[in-house]
Amino acid sequence: MAQAGDLLDPAERLGVEELRALQLERLRASLRQAYDHVPFYRASFDGAGVHPDDCRSLADLSRFPFTTKADLRDHYPYGMFAVPRERIRRLHASSGTTGRPTVVGYTEGDLSMWADVVARSIRAAGGRPGDTVHVAYGYGLFTGGLGAHYGAERLGCTVIPASGGMTARQVQLIQDLKPAVIMVTPSYMLTLLDEFERQRVDPRGTSLRVGIFGAEPWTERMRQEIEERFAIDAVDMYGLSEVVGPGVAQECVETKDGLHLWEDHFLPEVVDPVTGGVLPEGERGELVFTSLTKEAMPIVRYRTRDLTRLLPGTARAAFRRMEKVTGRSDDMVILRGVNLFPTQIEEIVLRTPGVAPHFQLRLTREGRMDALTVRAEARPDADTATRAAAARSVEAAVKDGIGVSVGVEIVDPETLERSVGKIRRIVDLRPR
Ligand code: DLL
Repeated sequence: MAQAGDLLDPAERLGVEELRALQLERLRASLRQAYDHVPFYRASFDGAGVHPDDCRSLADLSRFPFTTKADLRDHYPYGMFAVPRERIRRLHASSGTTGRPTVVGYTEGDLSMWADVVARSIRAAGGRPGDTVHVAYGYGLFTGGLGAHYGAERLGCTVIPASGGMTARQVQLIQDLKPAVIMVTPSYMLTLLDEFERQRVDPRGTSLRVGIFGAEPWTERMRQEIEERFAIDAVDMYGLSEVVGPGVAQECVETKDGLHLWEDHFLPEVVDPVTGGVLPEGERGELVFTSLTKEAMPIVRYRTRDLTRLLPGTARAAFRRMEKVTGRSDDMVILRGVNLFPTQIEEIVLRTPGVAPHFQLRLTREGRMDALTVRAEARPDADTATRAAAARSVEAAVKDGIGVSVGVEIVDPETLERSVGKIRRIVDLRPR
């Protein structure tokens, strides 16, 4: 097999100084593009009393105003575009749980850059030209399927555009077409695991070598579970449609130590979620991105609501890493003053004997108090005593580790809804 080093993009070999110089040059051009062509940015920069010419160093970016999801919604559908609609080759949209979706657009150049960063990501994950890649991210308005697809083709792979759903057929395709790489949400990978077992096919015996998992938070425990059950390397892929889609950051298979940010295209900052102040490197806060090369929809200081921290580069020395995203500020449950993320429960559930990696968090209100019930599935072989012990153990671990009391129900196998894409962990049953 070719070594990753033989195949790197020229950009992946840049030194830090060269990378910073390239970023500054691109940042200035991108701010200028936003200011000259998007009335929203002109108004927001003017309102903050800054002009693209004021950006003389990368640190100057902090003087520019943030952009939020609400700004994108307010300019639905085409108000954030910096090029005439005729130059847009593709649109994607987020589902938008409340009200209007957000629309993102790509020029031909943007689609090519996107394919490049996804190709680079698949290679960092351990995929190689000539590999067959099974894409089980959803195709459609979601960026996962098509984003992965064109990146895999760009790398020189054979793509199986499976999309999400029709799970029995996916297992068949994996057996027959023998992909080396699978790209899928971690929660849908677990749904596939059930199906392998239902069909009595050994999931450790497939042709799969690497899984590239993203689009939702997942934990180190989940990595262990998936790696063991499938005998593959499981690595993390991060991205968001407002920035480009998948391919913003990727974990390298040789280190599995967080995700390298493709900083030659997307400039990261981590800010204090409350004050908006830029945090020193290494401190945990909200991730913010500024695009450096996007034409159709340049984005300046976009507040992702994802919580992480920046770390120095390892496998790609010049590129900083982001720690695995353990949650979004939106998914944080505040229970009697204690902050809780679904990934913290995932850690606990997955280390509890007798419990399967399927769980749900139910929020209810009792009087004026919110209550949380963890509903987790028993493993098929867990008897009544094991289940009772598991419930006590999860409850104690949440109390000791997170500091709050929750209810725990261990339910029968195969009773909780399965994921076909991004899973919804929180079921909010509180009266509005
Ligand atoms: O989920 C893009 C994507 C597709 C990434 C496939 C990776 C693989 P959106 O639908 O816009 O785009 O959702 C973006 O999903 O802000 C995070 O909250 C979450 N997310 C994405 N990747 C990860 C990850 C795609 N690896 C939102 N870990 C982001 C944790 C993730 N959360």
